[in-house]
Amino acid sequence: MNGGKDAFATEVGGLQTLAQSSDKITLVKARGSLVWDDKGREYIDCTAQAWSNNLGANDPRVVEAAIAQLRDMTHIRPNFESLPRRKLVAKLQEISPGNLNHVGFALHGSLAGEMAMKLAFKNRPGAQNLIVLQDGYHGRSLATLGASWPHPNNPFLPIQPRFTRVPHPYPYRSRLGMDPEVEVQLCLGLLEDTITKGVDGPVAAVMMEPIQGNGGHIEFPRSYYKGVREICDRLGVLLILDEVQTGFGRMGTMWAAEYYDVVPDIIVFGKGIGGGFPLAGVLADDRLTWFDEGEEALTFGNFPVSLAAGLATIEAIQMDNLCQKARAAGEYATERLLEMQKRRKLIGDVRCPGLMVSIELVTDREKKTPAQKESQEVYRRGVELGVLFGESRYAGLGNLIKVKPPLDIERPLLSRALDVLDEVLGAIEEDSK
Ligand SMILES: Cc1ncc(COP(=O)(O)O)c(C=O)c1O
Repeated sequence: MNGGKDAFATEVGGLQTLAQSSDKITLVKARGSLVWDDKGREYIDCTAQAWSNNLGANDPRVVEAAIAQLRDMTHIRPNFESLPRRKLVAKLQEISPGNLNHVGFALHGSLAGEMAMKLAFKNRPGAQNLIVLQDGYHGRSLATLGASWPHPNNPFLPIQPRFTRVPHPYPYRSRLGMDPEVEVQLCLGLLEDTITKGVDGPVAAVMMEPIQGNGGHIEFPRSYYKGVREICDRLGVLLILDEVQTGFGRMGTMWAAEYYDVVPDIIVFGKGIGGGFPLAGVLADDRLTWFDEGEEALTFGNFPVSLAAGLATIEAIQMDNLCQKARAAGEYATERLLEMQKRRKLIGDVRCPGLMVSIELVTDREKKTPAQKESQEVYRRGVELGVLFGESRYAGLGNLIKVKPPLDIERPLLSRALDVLDEVLGAIEEDSK
């Protein structure tokens, strides 16, 4: 690994003034699970850059595929077909669950989310309502912001389409201390009531993340997923799973749908498929009516370079057994964190599955008081010690630390990141005595 300080100082010397004008770390190089800044400092990246580098950063197979495509053709308008598109569609059809054989592409998860909404409206004519979950997150375009928890940076909330956010289970913080399975039944009842009595007019779809990534890393009991599917089927409402974070191996399976054994009508995907290139889209049941020509046409939506990178990424995920690697790494991290929890009072809850790993920090385990300041301190001290942890300053309760590196992270690096987490938590606990 070439992370030499001198090399970087020379390479980015002219940028020093610019870099200093921002308080963000300026990253100049990434390989696998490591990134380097403009001062030549190396970091273990437990964020996989917004959980997107499921395959480690700058995988040569992906880079080469993108370069080859760059040489052939960089852009075509949506009226034309391309070879990378045809190949990637075939690959997605091969790995998609159920009958999800319709494929559409965009460059951002948010726009893919909107594509899913439009498809739901097309297939439920007259329905204007969408049901989403209270701590859900679906992106930052105007519509997806409305579908997400009330983000503090969202001044557009008053001008949104008709989304109704319903409560969902939160096993670590069950309402009134309910048994999680009782809470599941309560939330399913509230969902059904909302669809039948809580909104004006018919509902096109329920849209949810299998695990709420941004909104607090909340996984639901398995019975909830089955229950939502059953309600949607019974009431003729489509189920959209937003797998932008959970897809492409993050859960230890290719899809969360596979992990929970629930096939939705539409999957929204993004992040991990691109191998670092912007790529997102939807997979929809082939019994749904697909868009007519021109109904869904983004100028750069079928960006050939991203499509070629996407195909190389999926092939690498399969060839390298990344689902299995994610499971093994996730089990290792979870075991280490559960052991840490015995010694570190700040750790309230340890969550997985796969390499969708996080801890919820609390200042009081009985009361489960969110430890927001401490979480930010973990992030800050982690940076000092060369580890980038995922944090949740605005999202959820602001008390999460996420350990979601690339799925192929080498064991010594993962072990080092967890050692640093242990050390940092110990130091913060010591300081608060
Ligand atoms: C579950 C989920 N859906 C959608 C999005 C939006 O994706 P993008 O930022 O690519 O628009 C995100 C991004 O964090 C996400 O986590």
